[in-house]
Amino acid sequence: MKTIGILTSGGDAPGMNAAIRSVVRTSIYNKLNILGIKEGYNGLINGKIEEMNLSSVADIIHRGGTMLRSARSEEFMNEKGFNKAVNILRVFNIDGLVVLGGDGTFRGAKKLNDSGVPTICIPCTIDNDMGYTDHTIGFYTAVETVIDAISKLRDTSTSHGRANIVEVMGRECGDIALYAGLAGGAESIIVPEVEFDIDEVCKRVIQGKNRGKLHHIIVLAEGVGNAYEVAESIQDKADTDTRVTILGHIQRGGMPTAYDRILASKMGNKAVELLISNISGKALGIKCNEIFSIDLEEALNTKKDFDTSMYEIAKILSI
Ligand code: F6P
Repeated sequence: MKTIGILTSGGDAPGMNAAIRSVVRTSIYNKLNILGIKEGYNGLINGKIEEMNLSSVADIIHRGGTMLRSARSEEFMNEKGFNKAVNILRVFNIDGLVVLGGDGTFRGAKKLNDSGVPTICIPCTIDNDMGYTDHTIGFYTAVETVIDAISKLRDTSTSHGRANIVEVMGRECGDIALYAGLAGGAESIIVPEVEFDIDEVCKRVIQGKNRGKLHHIIVLAEGVGNAYEVAESIQDKADTDTRVTILGHIQRGGMPTAYDRILASKMGNKAVELLISNISGKALGIKCNEIFSIDLEEALNTKKDFDTSMYEIAKILSI
């Protein structure tokens, strides 16, 4: 192993920069060349590659986004684009690859690994939708962003005696809604994993009002459906003025939390150590505060479990 390449792909996640820094500096510490591949798999296909050094990654540990930029590549998915990518890796003498992203990115990385390019994947997505690991890099930062929004919305919700729906990201996974809903003290949490019952939500709004509550915060995961339709039903059935806030891509940016920076730093270091030990085809994860590696195939096939006990606690605490 003489030269390692690194790329970030798919939706960006806060903490990606901290992981890039860790991979670059661990590589240099171990006297390896490290090449930064720009714009994900697209940039790989087009040879957008440059040598990195210690100062390339200075002043980035605290920044959101990815200094290598990112993309969702259609071209890489077809045979021609994929073969082009493999060829570029050969041209640049890249002996091992570290890939940062979510499950779509991992699938691409697995194909590369299967075609003979030693590859290690680091889970980076705000969605926390990868079943094999407790957490993905970027998740807790997104949760903090949502909690901050909830606090602000609660002020105005109280002033006007309204219900406020906060729609959060996560695709089909309700973790951002669940964690931010519990930590933010939301009155209702609506997630794709639990059957949605509008009457139950309205009942909670009415119960709250009856006991003198002035605010009502509902965190709705984007995978459930249309927030404006939910607002209309609450307006009608609970006779409560209701507003919708869609947080959108705000959740993808911002300064990564300490947890995300530490997770990223540990995983970046581990990725390089594995490649040096000639271990590849692995995804990194964290369980019970321990970093581990697992076959990419298994990582991709592990179903994500929803934490129903946490959901129940959130329900109990928001009566
Ligand atoms: O996977 C991360 C994520 O932010 C999802 O939560 C969201 O549904 C999606 O990406 C948005 O994708 P895009 O940035 O392409 O609009």
